[in-house]
Amino acid sequence: MCGIIGCISNKPVAGMLLDGLKRLEYRGYDSAGLVVLENGVFRWEKTAGKIKDLEELLQGQTFSGTIGIGHTRWATHGSPSTCNAHPFFSCDNSVAVVHNGIIENYHQLRQELVRKKHRFQSETDTEVVVHLVEDYLKAGYKPIEAVRQVCRRLNGSFALVFMFTNHPNLLIGARLNSPLVVGIGRKEVFLASDVPAFLRNTRRVVYLHDRQIVALAQAGLRQKGKQTLHIIDFAGKKQSYHISQVRWNIQSAEKEGYAHFMLKEIEEQPEAVRRTVNYPHLSVLEPFTERLRDINRVILVACGTAWHACLATKYAMEELVRIPTEAILGSEFRYALPPLDKKTLVIAVSQSGETADTLAAVRAAKEHGVFSLAVCNVVGSTLTREVDLTLYTFAGPEISVASTKAYTAQLSVLALLTIRLAAIRKTITRNMEDKLLDELRQLPNKMKTVLRNKKIIEACAEAYKRVGNFMYIGRRNNLATAYEGALKMKEISYTHAEGYGAGEMKHGPLALVDGSFPTVAVILKDCVYEKMVSNIREIKARGGIVIAVATKGDKNISEIADWVIETPQVLEITSPILAAIPMQLLAYYTAVKKGREIDQPRNLAKSVTVE
Ligand code: M6R
Repeated sequence: MCGIIGCISNKPVAGMLLDGLKRLEYRGYDSAGLVVLENGVFRWEKTAGKIKDLEELLQGQTFSGTIGIGHTRWATHGSPSTCNAHPFFSCDNSVAVVHNGIIENYHQLRQELVRKKHRFQSETDTEVVVHLVEDYLKAGYKPIEAVRQVCRRLNGSFALVFMFTNHPNLLIGARLNSPLVVGIGRKEVFLASDVPAFLRNTRRVVYLHDRQIVALAQAGLRQKGKQTLHIIDFAGKKQSYHISQVRWNIQSAEKEGYAHFMLKEIEEQPEAVRRTVNYPHLSVLEPFTERLRDINRVILVACGTAWHACLATKYAMEELVRIPTEAILGSEFRYALPPLDKKTLVIAVSQSGETADTLAAVRAAKEHGVFSLAVCNVVGSTLTREVDLTLYTFAGPEISVASTKAYTAQLSVLALLTIRLAAIRKTITRNMEDKLLDELRQLPNKMKTVLRNKKIIEACAEAYKRVGNFMYIGRRNNLATAYEGALKMKEISYTHAEGYGAGEMKHGPLALVDGSFPTVAVILKDCVYEKMVSNIREIKARGGIVIAVATKGDKNISEIADWVIETPQVLEITSPILAAIPMQLLAYYTAVKKGREIDQPRNLAKSVTVE
């Protein structure tokens, strides 16, 4: 969703703000703006559209301000337009603000402020915030106190960053249910929605917690060690903080010659999985062995692609660990709470660790005393702080909105967890455990083999780039692969695609099949192989086109299907990891051939921080 960057430096910051905004582009946005403080007044530009439009506005202008804030907006209240773009200003132009999130009670606050003669320039929920702060400053509150008073009056979710004409060396940030990170460089300090925004300048970060307010100042800019960082909570209590070192570098967040981040991230999967299935990561489970031995129910919860990882895992969890397991959508969880108690293990899966619905599900579950575990890719994210325990995916930063390497890393760590739980609960033999772990270790090489199928997948994309609909079918854990394939196709190529249980085709969707209708079928050498063959024959009998993702050397399928994309033979637990790759590549090449914006599909945001 929206992206925020704020910076205080000893040199002009406009360039750094723009660079930071570009690195937050992946979050999804439809307008952009920035403001710097120069000679005691705000100089700003904002516009609907992309950062290049903002850059055009800035061209030919020189900005000398050494403090500033920038923003990319993903519209919620009010259309994407210049006047609804951030930053917003107080009536007296002494306070500027940018915001990520939703102020749910903005309507009442706006009415109150209008009665007090505040003038509004936009239709947004955000603008009330800056006028409220103005009122508290006028009533004699210091900036941090004014912000604190306002935060206590806001309902909803927010990451806010303020600057003040009367305090030329001060940025104030506040957060509730939306991410905000402090970056501490040698000559600059930053506040941003995510680390890539300032990674070029520093890897030293402080992850703010919910209900915290930070005041960042940089006194005596040329003197070392004079940066100040002061954190309080919404109750006004001083907070201690921890400076962490980000492990990955700026190259991980750059395209490095690839046409798109998505392709780069698809290619990075063998390495991401190799890092993730490193067995010692599981040592974090050890202190909880007794509790894990005692659980009698597993609930996996997530949204979008991460939910598909949950669905695929359910089968292995039930088969190997012999525990009833459900995969529930984060957006449904709160409104249809399953039975929960302290013997329930809730596993929340999220690349970003900031997805509002997944976080809300975890919070609701925790009220019932469950044991909570996160599978997450972002160190220090909100989710990792809410749960009892986190297993990280070591996918590195995922920039493309379409999730690829995070998905296969999630599947891998969930497979590892499943094997560990089965071992703890003695539902598999030692031999079986070794066999499964060995399979995981061999996975990266097998993934590289699947990646070699690019040519045939690209040809297939070329053949069907004009069709309006795709069907994706699978069974058991590869039903999740079918869902994921369809999601990828919709998300980046804007082609309608539906994921369906193969056995369900004759209960309705078969009516869609004709000579121009392609079905992508995941048919691997597993326990439902014969059933899938019958389902494919049903489609072929009606003249449909079949693109099969099949096990290498399966002659039977080459005779029936129109296209065959081969994957090496694997055990069932890992097959969705390999089968995901052709799905990603087919969507990618179809989208490229349709001229779509691959990394930032329309209307979408990378992390969905509102409900
Ligand atoms: O950050 P999360 O994993 O919690 O995000 C969940 C979904 O929003 C995400 O997987 C989404 O479906 C992807 N854009 C799909 O490619």
